[in-house]
Amino acid sequence: MITLQNVTKRYKNNHYALKNVSLEIHSGEFVFVVGASGAGKSTLMKLLYSEEKPTTGIVSIGGINIANLKNNKIPNLRRCMGIVFQDYKLLQNQTVFDNVAYVIRTLGISSKEINARVNGALKIVGLHHKKNATPAELSGGEQQRVGIARAIVNGPPLLIADEPTGNLDPQNSMEIMQILDQINQRGITVIVSTHDQNLVDYFRKRVIKLDNGEIVKDIQAGTYE
Ligand SMILES: Nc1ncnc2c1ncn2[C@@H]1O[C@H](COP(=O)(O)OP(=O)(O)O)[C@@H](O)[C@H]1O
Ligand SMILES: [Mg+2]
Repeated sequence: MITLQNVTKRYKNNHYALKNVSLEIHSGEFVFVVGASGAGKSTLMKLLYSEEKPTTGIVSIGGINIANLKNNKIPNLRRCMGIVFQDYKLLQNQTVFDNVAYVIRTLGISSKEINARVNGALKIVGLHHKKNATPAELSGGEQQRVGIARAIVNGPPLLIADEPTGNLDPQNSMEIMQILDQINQRGITVIVSTHDQNLVDYFRKRVIKLDNGEIVKDIQAGTYE
């Protein structure tokens, strides 16, 4: 379970990106975090993967308050989650397979196990047939599939995706969101930020809406407006 209690985030320029945000997300949920550009979506996501620390308040994941997490504990936290970015963040000179395998190669598991996990993750995102391609040979939607495979390859209980369809056309956006929905149906908690109203309205998931750093709506099976 994820809990935010009275979380405020003020950046160094004194701008309040989040104001008194409180929420609970339970294991297995699918949550859309929506709101206009600058509303605070990415800041909220960054607090969850400890890229930023809250100025005040509690951010707890699995019962542990990560608000003041020491930097040397961050890798441990991130092993329990997958993170998907708008701009994919793939290694351009490496194959699809190697991009997905990159992190688990540091875990000291056998190459047989690595092969099994990477192939499994690539099958989930429907990209197994392109495992020897490099990112430049893929469409944007395919590159984001690689990003998702990389995020789930270690079997995390939580997937965080910050505007995963922000660079994609409507067709590819829908396909990516369908993959995230399927991953959620495997029991993984999925938190997706987006400002794509069509997608939010189509999937009818829980919607947490931010406006100027404040939660202005938190409803189940909701729509964007
Ligand atoms: N590193 C930063 N330093 C200063 N201000 C920031 C920083 N990151 C974000 N902000 C500001 O915080 C607000 C929320 O940004 P962000 O969380 O990125 O919103 P969103 O993802 O919804 O577009 C914006 O006004 C943005 O300019
Ligand atoms: Mg953002």
